[in-house]
Amino acid sequence: MLTLGIETSCDETSCAVLGGRDEVKSNIVSSSLFRHRPFGGIVPEIASRHCLEQIDFVFHQALEQAKVRAQDLDLIAVTQGPGLIGSLLVGVSFAKALSLDLNIPLVAVNHLEAHLEAAFVTNEGKFPGVISSRRPARFIGLLVSGGHTHLTLHEKEKVIGLGETVDDAVGEAYDKVAKIMGLGYPGGPILDRLAKEGNPRAVAFTKPKQKNRYDFSFSGIKTAVLYYYQREHSKHKSQQALDCFHRDLAASFQNAVVSWLVEKTMAAAKEYSVSDIVVGGGVSANAALRTRLTAAGEEDGLCIRFPHLSLTNDNAAMIARRGLELFKKGRRAAATLSGDPNLRMV
Ligand code: KG4
Ligand code: ZN
Repeated sequence: MLTLGIETSCDETSCAVLGGRDEVKSNIVSSSLFRHRPFGGIVPEIASRHCLEQIDFVFHQALEQAKVRAQDLDLIAVTQGPGLIGSLLVGVSFAKALSLDLNIPLVAVNHLEAHLEAAFVTNEGKFPGVISSRRPARFIGLLVSGGHTHLTLHEKEKVIGLGETVDDAVGEAYDKVAKIMGLGYPGGPILDRLAKEGNPRAVAFTKPKQKNRYDFSFSGIKTAVLYYYQREHSKHKSQQALDCFHRDLAASFQNAVVSWLVEKTMAAAKEYSVSDIVVGGGVSANAALRTRLTAAGEEDGLCIRFPHLSLTNDNAAMIARRGLELFKKGRRAAATLSGDPNLRMV
């Protein structure tokens, strides 16, 4: 069984070929990030144009690397949403045309569910040829990306929303804080790197209070960083002092954010008596989140699953894998399928 995955929800154009459930034969990702950097964030029109330019080339690259022909494919899985409508329409239109041309079924995939599916492709070995692990029947999902922050309870195919962000997504907070500090885009990897050398206790940030104990809020800490930065940064005259100030602020911001994520996720695991926690989305690449959640899990005897680092960002391998799972459960996309920018997980 060969599944073609197609992902165009934002700034990446990706196609992957999955053999059976387990073998990622190819996973080609063409990013338009370099085109957005000068603007300090994603420009939707640029993102969708890039998808349109790249999709055919990326598709052929994926076939070539997998050493298969289009006629060999059995199934197509495509991201339906959430995301930018212009980008989504490129992937959905391409997938629908290909499914008609090859006369093979098409499955629509929720991008957020696919991020969590990425953790079931095990970390061993390099592509191609990784082996997947089985999905536990019950688990807590922590989805942390540039646009979403969700804490969910998964029971078989039922997804129950426990909490989500009431304002900014955690990745968005990283991006905004890096922008305030003049560090570039995307901010997550930059701050993560800087934080490793800083003092996490240099600046204390107040934990936001939420009515629902599993909701998150990250706009307060972003504003706190803004005021702190405006007040303090001119006091550091030498480059060395300024670098140290940046490292300490990055470490303190990261320490606060990761503490809140770990605390709420562990509390949910305890309340709902699950033995597995699954993390996904761009921020699941974060070193502190990986270390601290894994340590907390070990202490409580829980299994914490993160995706392989090559699968944390947007990619089509996770779409193919999620699509195949849905196909086996009988799911098929209607001929009227379109992109849904606001598609929800719960
Ligand atoms: O899932 P993703 O690739 O795209 C969305 O669907 O949103 O996530 C991108 C987000 C960006 O906000 C980026 O700054 C963040 O993931 N990110 C990180 C790290 N790597 C990427 N945030 C924190 N630490 C990282 N190492
Ligand atoms: Zn994503």
